[in-house]
Amino acid sequence: MTPDTALVPPGTPAPDRRAVVRTSPLAPGSAADPLWYKDAVVYQLHVRTFADGNGDGIGDFAGLIARLGYIRRLGANAIWLLPFYESPLKDDGYDIAHYERIDPRYGTMDDFKRFLAEAHRLGLQVFTELIINHTSTAHPWFQASRRAPVGSPKRNYYVWSDSDRRYLGARVIFNDIEPSNWTWDPVAKAYYWHRFFHHQPDLNFDNPRVRRAVFKVMRFWLDLGVDGLRLDAIAHLYEREGTSCENLPETHEFLRAIRTEMDRRYAHRVLLAEVDQPPPIARTYFGAGAGDECHMAFQFPLMPRLFLALKREDAGPIVSIVKETDHLPESAQWAIFLRNHDELTISALTPEDRQLMFDLYAPEPRMRLNLGIRRRMAPLLDNDPSRMALAFSLLLSLPGSPVIYYGDEIGMGDNIWLNDRDGVRTPMQWTGTAGAGFSESDQPLTLPVIDDLIYGASTVNVEQQESDPSSMLWRVRRMVAARARSQAFGRGTIDFLTVTCGSVLACLRCYRDDTLLIIANLASTPQRCELMLPAEIADRTAHSLFNDDAVASAALAALSLAPFEFRWYRLVRPMAAPSSTSPASVQNSI
Ligand code: NOJ
Repeated sequence: MTPDTALVPPGTPAPDRRAVVRTSPLAPGSAADPLWYKDAVVYQLHVRTFADGNGDGIGDFAGLIARLGYIRRLGANAIWLLPFYESPLKDDGYDIAHYERIDPRYGTMDDFKRFLAEAHRLGLQVFTELIINHTSTAHPWFQASRRAPVGSPKRNYYVWSDSDRRYLGARVIFNDIEPSNWTWDPVAKAYYWHRFFHHQPDLNFDNPRVRRAVFKVMRFWLDLGVDGLRLDAIAHLYEREGTSCENLPETHEFLRAIRTEMDRRYAHRVLLAEVDQPPPIARTYFGAGAGDECHMAFQFPLMPRLFLALKREDAGPIVSIVKETDHLPESAQWAIFLRNHDELTISALTPEDRQLMFDLYAPEPRMRLNLGIRRRMAPLLDNDPSRMALAFSLLLSLPGSPVIYYGDEIGMGDNIWLNDRDGVRTPMQWTGTAGAGFSESDQPLTLPVIDDLIYGASTVNVEQQESDPSSMLWRVRRMVAARARSQAFGRGTIDFLTVTCGSVLACLRCYRDDTLLIIANLASTPQRCELMLPAEIADRTAHSLFNDDAVASAALAALSLAPFEFRWYRLVRPMAAPSSTSPASVQNSI
């Protein structure tokens, strides 16, 4: 099977990517640099819970447009929108009923176009979701399929079977809720295959019509001008007996076809893979050495280890996984994140580390979901501003493009008593008023605003933090601004330095002539340690990226760090260095 041959006439030469990039018109607002995504700081949000523009209690594009300035002021230069397509919303929009329509609860297609134009005008690139592994059972394709004659192309849009004993090697992902990957359909009188909820039947990628239909959906959104596509659940496209039905060669072949099609028609667009797999497998989604599949992939291997490291006060788990996931193809980039809209997944950890994560971060059974933890960043880090700032420092300084989950920048809380993962998807807290400034509706909102004493909107909100320069919002803004001063964060190499304390992480990030020194104390206690600085940087001056302080690099060989302290320095060669000040003046007060 060659998916691309279904779309490109036989004999068509493979397009020269560089030539295409030169000649293709850029969509309005498109970034001029083909590697723009390497410098991206992405803000992830759900239209449904971000801002309600029409007062009906549900977030919408009108509300989002009015809040774009906030995202820009945070320093983000890209947005990732969770699904906003027509949907019964049984999986918060990951159950699509129509691929080319906006769910009317969020507005119209014109509203979406206005949003896109305004985002681009402000310098925000836009990622949307391409959810092709499955649809909703409400999708007309499924409704037609269940009624179509066995063996017909329409029937074969989905994966049907007379038996629920096929593909037993595939794990059940939502194992708290679904007993099997097969569900009986009384209309079709057969079982259909689904890797997620039973109302999300998997499309059958062995059917060339499905592949063509998926290409058409992709072109529809790229033609509108979206800059990046997050490929949901992309590891699961194909099924083969005797395998785990994940990461199959056919899936990679299809991804290469998608990439070829994208590059053939569009300039500077990006594919972002959602693959929660161990490092050697995760990196295959960039393409086997050639960078010919996805430009970006989520850094799932690192994420739970960041939390392990923070709780254990030990840099080890971060250092080892970053080393294991380093040296990507030139065009590839990790999308690094702390939390997102799902449970904090720990499926990639060893059984011992999983248990440790549950014990440390999810002591109450209700905090757990499937193989994960349904909590937000602030409650996970005990609402401790120093720990949270440290977590943001790691997010913003380790290799990759950081993705900030809406609300984490103000330390929003969660509500573990809501259904499924809704507890981490509650309305954005803009003000301390009843609807949190999210909505003026006096009807129940799409999800209830957090209202407990610690994390409730009257305590945690944007308005209050705007006026407090020491707030989490301002600290994150200052870090993002500091990050924007060097491309080494997004594009640089990383080299860990030897430190005498296990709780201190120190590394050099280098890009072209620019060298940064990043130091972080993961411990809740002060640390005195020694740092082995390479000889070639010993004569440099370390300039803080957070303020005007400077110190001779050599002075950093003996370090005293406050609990959770972190420092970001640019190491400047002697020629360019202004007169250095004493070590005592270095204050990385962020
Ligand atoms: C991954 C998404 O992040 C999650 O929210 C969703 O439930 C599954 N894919 C199924 O689409």
